[in-house]
Amino acid sequence: MTKAVRVHKVGGPEVLTYEDVEVGAPGNGEVRIRQHAVGLNFIDVYFRTGLYKAPGLPFIAGNEAAGEVLAVGPGVTNFHPGDRVAYYYNLGGYASERVIPADKLVKLPDHITYEQGAVLMLKGLTVWYLLHKTFKVEQGHRVLIHAAAGGIGLLACQWAHALGAHVIGTVGSKAKADIALANGCDHVILYNEENFVERVKQISRGELCDVVYDGVGKTTFPGSLSCLRPRGLFVSFGNASGPVPPFPLAELNNHGSLFATRPKLNDYVGTRKELLEGADTLFAAVINGKLHVPINHAYALKDVAKAHIDLESRATTGAAILRP
Ligand SMILES: NC(=O)c1ccc[n+]([C@@H]2O[C@H](COP(=O)([O-])OP(=O)(O)OC[C@H]3O[C@@H](n4cnc5c(N)ncnc54)[C@H](OP(=O)(O)O)[C@@H]3O)[C@@H](O)[C@H]2O)c1
Repeated sequence: MTKAVRVHKVGGPEVLTYEDVEVGAPGNGEVRIRQHAVGLNFIDVYFRTGLYKAPGLPFIAGNEAAGEVLAVGPGVTNFHPGDRVAYYYNLGGYASERVIPADKLVKLPDHITYEQGAVLMLKGLTVWYLLHKTFKVEQGHRVLIHAAAGGIGLLACQWAHALGAHVIGTVGSKAKADIALANGCDHVILYNEENFVERVKQISRGELCDVVYDGVGKTTFPGSLSCLRPRGLFVSFGNASGPVPPFPLAELNNHGSLFATRPKLNDYVGTRKELLEGADTLFAAVINGKLHVPINHAYALKDVAKAHIDLESRATTGAAILRP
């Protein structure tokens, strides 16, 4: 028996149930791991509420974690008991132990802690693909990042800054503005108090942005489109305030022949080669000091409901971990 947090029916934080579950022996190509830290993500909220559909009920929430290998199944040659590993994978992360396909694991370099590994595999890899693959951020680009003080936000602002971009961030409070400014933002906009489109126009002297990274969704749409220069790219990668409503394609034309994409991590690390390219680049950025991993909150796994309340009520900054 091991401990896990299961959802038996979708709903509020109270549906997160800490209980005993069976974890079987690893099968062909699988590894059993003991998890030392689990990453908390907004996607966990979407699955809990039913905005994103889990394959069935009950399910164990959570998609990223780090820990040590306990046992390997037949055919696994590249991992051994005791190896330090981390992953981004399907639901099942909120647990003390789990079984997972070996090809979804990466080895943690010595200099990366379990806590860092647990928040880098979903949040860090997402920031990697958003800034290197969805749009290749380069010196001189002007970039708008919404929710700049969040888990994704602080990593994205730091990395975009390190790539030479001019970074504009939006945040929900003055305290978050200070944190975003200390993590790579050149300008911060308090989007609950100021008209962020007007502020982007002012800051950019009317030149607007090359790319907008929008994980907020409903409340920043369609303003995000108005922050883009002609032929700029709208990257809608999340729905913290609710989904972007359907809109006529002609809106992209009206705003200046824009491009738009709605990407997800799975499609950028679907092959082993892509996963390792992303993880290697990410770990190197952390080890070289280009990227500081801001783990600003830690909760016991059994207190995960409190973690969800904090995340949804916008009380967190940076990344948060759960300790099994
Ligand atoms: N597509 C992908 O591949 C992918 C992968 C990972 C994450 N994501 C998305 O990235 C976004 C950020 O994820 P995260 O885990 O790092 O979360 P987070 O940014 O740490 O938390 C969400 C933040 O969104 C802002 N927000 C604005 N309106 C909100 C509202 N009505 N309710 C709650 N928060 C609101 C809040 O910041 P302020 O107070 O500053 O407004 C809040 O702190 C999410 O939309 C997530 O789904 C997408």
